[in-house]
Amino acid sequence: MGSIDTVLFELRTFEPSRTFAAEAHIGNRLEYDTIWRQAQADPVTFWEESARNITWFSRWKRPLIWKEPYAQWFEGGTTNAAYNCLDRHLKEGLGNKTAIIWEGEDGSSQNLSYQALFEKVCQLSNVLEVKFGLKPGDTAAIYMPLVPEAIIAMLACARIGVVHSVIFGGFSGPAIRDRVQDAECKVILTADVGYRRGQEIELLKTIDSVMPEMPTVQNVLVLKRKTDTVLKEKHSDWNLLVDQEAKTHFPKPFDSEHPLFLLYTSGTTGKPKGIIHSTGGYLVGVSTTAKWIFDLKTTDVFWCTADIGWITGHSYVVYGLLSHGATIVLYEGAPFHPHPGRFWEIVDKHKVSILYTAPTAIRAFMRAGDEHPRKYQLSTLRLLGSVGEPINPEAWMWYHTEIGRGRCPIVDTWWQTETGCILISPIPGVTTTRPGSATKPFPGILADVVNEEGKSCSPNEGGYLVIKHPWPSMLRGIYKNPERYKEAYWTKFPGMYFTGDSAHRDDRGYFWIKGRVDDVINVSGHRLGTMEVESALVSHPAVAEAAVVGRPDPIKGQALVAFVTPRGDETKVSVKELVRELKEHVSREIGAIARPDEIKLTRTLPKTRSGKIMRRLLKDLAEGKEPTGDTTTLENQALIELIED
Ligand code: WT7
Repeated sequence: MGSIDTVLFELRTFEPSRTFAAEAHIGNRLEYDTIWRQAQADPVTFWEESARNITWFSRWKRPLIWKEPYAQWFEGGTTNAAYNCLDRHLKEGLGNKTAIIWEGEDGSSQNLSYQALFEKVCQLSNVLEVKFGLKPGDTAAIYMPLVPEAIIAMLACARIGVVHSVIFGGFSGPAIRDRVQDAECKVILTADVGYRRGQEIELLKTIDSVMPEMPTVQNVLVLKRKTDTVLKEKHSDWNLLVDQEAKTHFPKPFDSEHPLFLLYTSGTTGKPKGIIHSTGGYLVGVSTTAKWIFDLKTTDVFWCTADIGWITGHSYVVYGLLSHGATIVLYEGAPFHPHPGRFWEIVDKHKVSILYTAPTAIRAFMRAGDEHPRKYQLSTLRLLGSVGEPINPEAWMWYHTEIGRGRCPIVDTWWQTETGCILISPIPGVTTTRPGSATKPFPGILADVVNEEGKSCSPNEGGYLVIKHPWPSMLRGIYKNPERYKEAYWTKFPGMYFTGDSAHRDDRGYFWIKGRVDDVINVSGHRLGTMEVESALVSHPAVAEAAVVGRPDPIKGQALVAFVTPRGDETKVSVKELVRELKEHVSREIGAIARPDEIKLTRTLPKTRSGKIMRRLLKDLAEGKEPTGDTTTLENQALIELIED
């Protein structure tokens, strides 16, 4: 494979405004350049300085022990993530400050102060320790709607050293079972229902549908939102148990390297991988980046629209923000419900000052029409963020003009589940931005674009995005799978962390991230392994073989197109019927986010002589193009024969 072509050139530039820079934590370009250069030369010292952002119970002995591919940061240091998000703010007199503003889809809202949040976390910690007997290092799954209790659950686990695994509330029973069993969770924290688009989402029923296949689970703690929910064996009533507990709890110190959480993400092969994150290094990464990249001030109201089921929710709803004693907004509901101006209504209602959302959402708002945001003031906004996929310049400009009203800097933040915190992003008070570029690495992050041989690419030459030095919030491994950890991230380029993304750097040294180079599709900013969707398809009795590829989509970034060869010819149902059934089947197996947008039934799949499916050809077909490029290695020259009604 030669170099990856660069097709995107964007020349508009935006300087940080003087007024923004004057008030910013980092507002002096010369000073920042010095910090940045020093940090690139000596990342460990930079991160040691940054470690002051969190409270340690005992100081580390060595800042970094690096035995590739395993890093230990702040070795010998002890801390507690929940203490950093709660207790220390109470000590500073912030007890009455609002921690969480929760907004329901129906327009009801509720504020929770740091004191109230602290008490609820203590009570739940007591339940988990005393009633359920959980010990440090045990694992618990959290499968919840976006309610304050989801955050309370995460912090209660963190407080007692229980490793949480949050499972996105949109996942189906089999997807929950796979994650819960891989992590051997003893407890699941959940709610009977969530609410979205005016509908009830039956979380507890989904769990119950796979309960017999989850032998490790001893207790399911259920937040009852409906009075008539009937609890069964192994279920306990959240409020009933919590109300019996004391509102204090002593936070134990944990080693900096104690795992804080697992988060499952898609890779190229097989099952989702349980990404392991540490306590001390992770907290240092998320709190430092939150402060600098979002220019976080005590007066800010921060709304990150991500679900806590994704890394963005972990790092920039929960740990990165609460560790600063910030006020966060949590919205349980869909962006267009009950009307297309819902997001902007929430911004005005709760005086949101920083909004962090995804390009796919921005594009959907763009398409809905300018009249919706124009009905609102949006005058409290001072900074906008984007995450999850490349933001196309059109969407960037729209965000800038229609939402930021030309006044708010935009931070396009590049990172991954594995990186824990943002690694490439503008610093809003000092960086000149270009629409579509995540600009430059954060201080102490040695990012590079390399060619197939691992050599740095020249300006504007496309290549692979790698990180050449460990950073505190990097993943610590894949749960129970060290081989896969080495193979996925540390084998392609020895001595470098391989991100799986392609990118180029322009002549200013700005990074332009293009997307995944592996068989991972980015649908609405969510990483989906094509393998996973393929396994779901072939688990259907009517399917012999399946190949899934991505097709560019104006709103979702990429859409899923599946090529499926049915088993035998005696299929009684019509093509339409089977396609509908298969889409349903994938939704049931993984969840609605993995539902293929299009399924093409075919008699054959294009394969090489060694039996490998030629995805490149399928991609062309999915995009409606004539297949281009070399087809000489193709076993079957017929390419593909579609089955139609
Ligand atoms: C992949 C990581 C990081 C939280 C959400 C997704 C893509 C993410 C950007 C960006 C271009 C981006 C990359 C990355 N991505 N942010 N600002 N510009 N691409 O986490 O599910 O682990 O996905 O999302 O391809 O590798 P994730």
